[in-house]
Amino acid sequence: MQRAVFRWLSPLRRGKNGSPFSGLAAAQAEVETLSGKNNAGLPKLPPFDYSPPPYDGARTAEILLKRSEFLSPLSYIYTRILNVVDGKMQYLYDEDGKRYLDAFGGIATVCCGHCHPEVVEVIVNQIKRIQHSTVLYLNHAIADFAEALASKMPGDLKVVFFTNSGTEANELALMIARLYTGCHDIISIRNAYHGNAAGTMGATAQSIWKYNVIQSGVHHAVNPDQYRGAFGSEGEKYAKDVQEIIDFGTSGRIAAFISEAIQGVGGIMELAPGYLPAVYKTIKNAGGLCIADEVQSGFARTGSHFWGFEGHGVIPDIVTMAKGIGNGIPIGAVVTTPEIAEVLTRRNYFNTFGGNPVCTAAGHAVLRVIEKEKLQKNASVVGSYLMDKLKKLQEKHEIIGDVRGRGLMIGVELVSDRQEKTPAKAEILHILELMKEMGVLIGKGGYYGNVFRITPPLCFTKEDTDFLVDVMDVAMSKL
Ligand SMILES: Cc1ncc(COP(=O)(O)O)c(C=O)c1O
Repeated sequence: MQRAVFRWLSPLRRGKNGSPFSGLAAAQAEVETLSGKNNAGLPKLPPFDYSPPPYDGARTAEILLKRSEFLSPLSYIYTRILNVVDGKMQYLYDEDGKRYLDAFGGIATVCCGHCHPEVVEVIVNQIKRIQHSTVLYLNHAIADFAEALASKMPGDLKVVFFTNSGTEANELALMIARLYTGCHDIISIRNAYHGNAAGTMGATAQSIWKYNVIQSGVHHAVNPDQYRGAFGSEGEKYAKDVQEIIDFGTSGRIAAFISEAIQGVGGIMELAPGYLPAVYKTIKNAGGLCIADEVQSGFARTGSHFWGFEGHGVIPDIVTMAKGIGNGIPIGAVVTTPEIAEVLTRRNYFNTFGGNPVCTAAGHAVLRVIEKEKLQKNASVVGSYLMDKLKKLQEKHEIIGDVRGRGLMIGVELVSDRQEKTPAKAEILHILELMKEMGVLIGKGGYYGNVFRITPPLCFTKEDTDFLVDVMDVAMSKL
């Protein structure tokens, strides 16, 4: 069985001498201790009044075998991958009923908590009543959600196109910009991630994500990276690169500039202050449109604002969103002005399922829950608490080079040398694995893959925060 399972794992996760995971042997030994019975004295998960129903489905080994045979040969970040069978709010449960704090899934899928009862109820009711294509007939769920979403937008951003994913939303936004301006050139920022189709791959300037999909007319601007960038937090200095690209790399006219407000996959890096206002001005002067990719930073996550771009004091021409918008249901959206939206009437833009009744009913329920449960405020309060605790942890552990972010979108960059900022690539895998065994799931990202991404569902509590930081402390102490 081992052969089959390890065949499926990428060569990166195999040891040089052929033995699986030999590079992580030490972590593995540690993990055995932490996941075993001898774990007295370790941090305890906050109490939670829910027991998942008994699970009698396939177990990890069986699923791994099937995956190795029938699914794509991709690797996971964990060496001991979890079989997740239940979820409730900010917690996940494995096949043995063990509970984990999900401090990453807030961005990956659920903005207001796994299986949030109100959202689930709305989805079930809608699917019992009618599920259909978005484009053929009228349905109130679609129009109601579009209206509610538009009400969360500043300025004249009032027209919504629904899609099935963030990739589709960004592809559509880029196409709209090209149609509207009659120009082809796009500028995106190095280290950004915008999706996995041809156009968005072109705009994704991340070495670890980028396939060699050539896109003509895509230019990658210097990343206004406050930690590693040449100009630190002086956003306007980085912005000059965008002007130079336009001057020397294009006809002087441009279709669009696309960026996240806080790079997510890129390692939770908020663009340096002053960068976006300066770049938006430059782009407007070159006749281009500014696209804000809110797939990760939208929906109240930053706490201070509902949308990430608001934290930079700019108003984009087009906003794209996905992921948390449907709390686990696949849906994305593009919001723009009536004038810009009009370009799509020149042809027939058709998307079978983008924003169907079930997905839009879910999205609308998510907006209601964010409001009712004051999740933006919670993101702000718990996010600041978490940030303070992580900064204190940074004083204790040399390996923490940087702690950054906003609200419940926090990055912790690990370095083996603070002066040189040497990415701690091996150490992060070790710590991640140990934390998982102690019951905490967090993400990983960044150009060098050395940044923890902490992006929990917005119902995260201070007690969860204490647990997360204690567990991280223990894991780092074991390095
Ligand atoms: C900022 C950003 N934009 C776009 C996407 C693509 O979204 P999807 O995976 O739904 O296609 C992602 C996904 O990680 C993302 O983080």
